[in-house]
Amino acid sequence: KAYSIRELLEGDDKILQEVTVKGWVRTFRSNRFIALNDGSTINNIQCVVDFENIDEDELKKINTGAALELKGTLVESMGKGQSVEIQVNELEVLGTSDPETYPIQPKKHSMEFLRENAHLRVRTNTFSAVMRVRNALSFAIHQYFQQNGFNYVHTPIITGSDAEGAGEMFRVSTLDPKNPPLTEENEIDYKEDFFGKETNLTVSGQLEGEAYAMALGKIYTFGPTFRAENSNTSRHLAEFWMVEPEVAFMDLDGNMDLAEDFIKYVLQYALDNCKDDLEFLEKRLLDEEKTKPQKDRSEMTLTEKIRFVLDNNFKRVSYTEAIDILKNSKPNKKKKFQYIIEEWGADLQSEHERFLVEKHFKCPVILFDYPAKIKAFYMRLNEDEKTVRAMDILFPGIGEIVGGSQREERLDVLKQKIADLGIDEKELWWYLDLRKYGSAVHSGFGLGFERLVLFTTGMTNIRDVIPFPRTPQNAEF
Ligand code: 4AD
Ligand code: MG
Repeated sequence: KAYSIRELLEGDDKILQEVTVKGWVRTFRSNRFIALNDGSTINNIQCVVDFENIDEDELKKINTGAALELKGTLVESMGKGQSVEIQVNELEVLGTSDPETYPIQPKKHSMEFLRENAHLRVRTNTFSAVMRVRNALSFAIHQYFQQNGFNYVHTPIITGSDAEGAGEMFRVSTLDPKNPPLTEENEIDYKEDFFGKETNLTVSGQLEGEAYAMALGKIYTFGPTFRAENSNTSRHLAEFWMVEPEVAFMDLDGNMDLAEDFIKYVLQYALDNCKDDLEFLEKRLLDEEKTKPQKDRSEMTLTEKIRFVLDNNFKRVSYTEAIDILKNSKPNKKKKFQYIIEEWGADLQSEHERFLVEKHFKCPVILFDYPAKIKAFYMRLNEDEKTVRAMDILFPGIGEIVGGSQREERLDVLKQKIADLGIDEKELWWYLDLRKYGSAVHSGFGLGFERLVLFTTGMTNIRDVIPFPRTPQNAEF
């Protein structure tokens, strides 16, 4: 019978059965002991080849990376660290792998090298573990929302609106860039373009999500979003996946409760369902920590970090309180960097965020009530008329993982805000309709999926938690 390697390693009930497996050679010794992996688990199954039954020419074709089909008897293993192995009596090499040229050899490769081989890196233990955890987290996200009565909404990828008003969009156009049609004023004539107007890849599904929340009540999106920000950092991608719930009749406090409950659910799911992969990633991280000087090493292991988030309430702090904390914090002379922020109203830099989370509160922090000036146009203005009901969730080692808000539900206030920012009201006519007809308090947030995967897997660069990363100057695959 054909089984996945995961099934074979898990079930003692299959002992002495004749089994068939297909997979790829990870390592082999004297052409007799083959460690085979089929992607169903981080663990390989040891396959012991009986020379007498198998053609010598076939054995010569066994190399790291080759695809094999094996038939044999599942037996208890005497070897260390494995419960069962296969006593092979039939072997077919389905696809060979030339050891002279195959890039993924059983040794430590640099992350940079593996990024250049994004099509093959998932054949390593680290990347296959990361991608299985990524898969489990996606499933948990759907499970959480589906169990709680949310509707999954597919918001458009191509849009005519700039949800965040940050101007970091990728243009979508069928015009000839070398020879675009021009208006009488010598400007590009978008009427001639495919959609008859300027369009972009979405930076967020929020605005369309709001429209659906104002009819279906509770919705979430989970799809790719795009930002042409030129940040070459370990936390930014040009194409990333965002999870965006939006709920009618929910205020900012409800939004914070939802975000915290949601994050804890999906992390618990990963702990419960990705034990082997997380164990592997934890060991990997420990090895990596050992290469750092003692003082820079993390005090917690990967699972301790995840447990820590699960076991603690996220600390809720207003922007104004946070500024006071930063103002009163001791400047860090050694690093020549001062956490001190001079002015109320300044946006927090990632150093500030990390200070608050990692040094001051030492737990996940929800910052709320930010100055209106540094946040997007759609956020609900507070009674002080200076701050908005925004919230950012900051995570240890990651910084901002969630950005969200209560939305401005009052037509007049929203119109004023749009006018103040110089946005053309006509472009948002449909969004304003939501405030004209049956408007109500509503809130939502966006979770950067790759930042969640980064936190859960303990990887350090966001490029290593998405299959084919898109970053400035890099869209090879
Ligand atoms: O804070 P942001 O910009 O919020 C929004 O887009 C809102 N419309 C969400 C909402 O209220 N529905 O982005 C949300 C999250 C960030 O907290 C961050 O985790 C992630 O998306 N993010 C990125 N992740 C990877 N690469 C980038 N370039 C990212 N930009 C934002
Ligand atoms: Mg943000």
